[in-house]
Amino acid sequence: MKPVNVGICGLGTVGGGTFNVLQRNAAEIARRAGRGIEVGHIASRHINPACDVGDTPVTDDVFAVVNNPDIDIIVELIGGYTVAREVVMQAIANGKHVVTANKALIAVHGNEIFQAASDKGVMVAFEASVAGGIPIIKAIREGLAANQIDWVAGIINGTGNFILTEMREKGRTFDDVLAEAQALGYAEADPTFDVEGTDAAHKLTILASIAFGIPLQFDKAYTEGITRLTTADVNYAETLGYRIKHLGIARRTEQGVELRVHPTLIPADRLLANVNGVMNAVMVQGDAVGPTLYYGAGAGAEPTASAVVADICDVVRTLTSDPNNRVPHLAFQANALSDHPV
Ligand code: HSE
Repeated sequence: MKPVNVGICGLGTVGGGTFNVLQRNAAEIARRAGRGIEVGHIASRHINPACDVGDTPVTDDVFAVVNNPDIDIIVELIGGYTVAREVVMQAIANGKHVVTANKALIAVHGNEIFQAASDKGVMVAFEASVAGGIPIIKAIREGLAANQIDWVAGIINGTGNFILTEMREKGRTFDDVLAEAQALGYAEADPTFDVEGTDAAHKLTILASIAFGIPLQFDKAYTEGITRLTTADVNYAETLGYRIKHLGIARRTEQGVELRVHPTLIPADRLLANVNGVMNAVMVQGDAVGPTLYYGAGAGAEPTASAVVADICDVVRTLTSDPNNRVPHLAFQANALSDHPV
């Protein structure tokens, strides 16, 4: 069977990581996907020194990739809401499947995107949009499918957790650590999204949609970041036997689902208090399974690429299966409407 042809839009930190993982682990990935996967076209405005694309054609016109008739799956790794939205909507209109790591796009425009994908019969997969390399979307949607979810809570911004950890462990200043997070490729293009809580609110919106079967409603999330915290606050918490962690919490209440993102004091001996650096951790409480915990790198090139490539494999497996049995589980459940007020 001929390989599936993937177009990568955006060759930054995650795009470069995705290309590299697809090359390095090609045989293993093909075995798991049931078919070879080739990168046939790349759109990028910059050279990524961490990524040798060899003979793969590269263009600075992203729509040349989106409209390339030989490309089966568009991997959107541009970020932001504007060009990325046009890319995804055009890819869907062209009948292409989409894999994206773009939490801002899914949280804000996901309802429209999933409707368009559903109308066109294509898949939109977005595992990499939440908690980097942790397969938390698959865990909730597939692994916990039997459960009524009571709550989801966790550390879902790697940059913020890195900053709080370095402030506590090494006494470094907020600005100094943020600059390092940017240099390491953890932070968003606009790092205020990380430190003001917006990025975590995007991710929580997506998790809540999947966990509770509600529409994506980013504007209903209470959002507070870590910019007002000082090294003194972090140290006082430690003296009192607590750690300050920035949490996203989605909880079923009598009035509907509550979404909130804010710094939280956690007793220092608890698991979440000991999740450090760029690591993320998400706890999910289901009525059948009880409490569960998922832990791993929340940002960075290859951890995020791990989730992107897993989604490519999912799409490939589904493409290769019975066309009458294609997938809503990859995406459309996230758009399941309910009456839960948020
Ligand atoms: N800026 C994000 C973070 C990247 O630090 O968590 C991964 O979504």
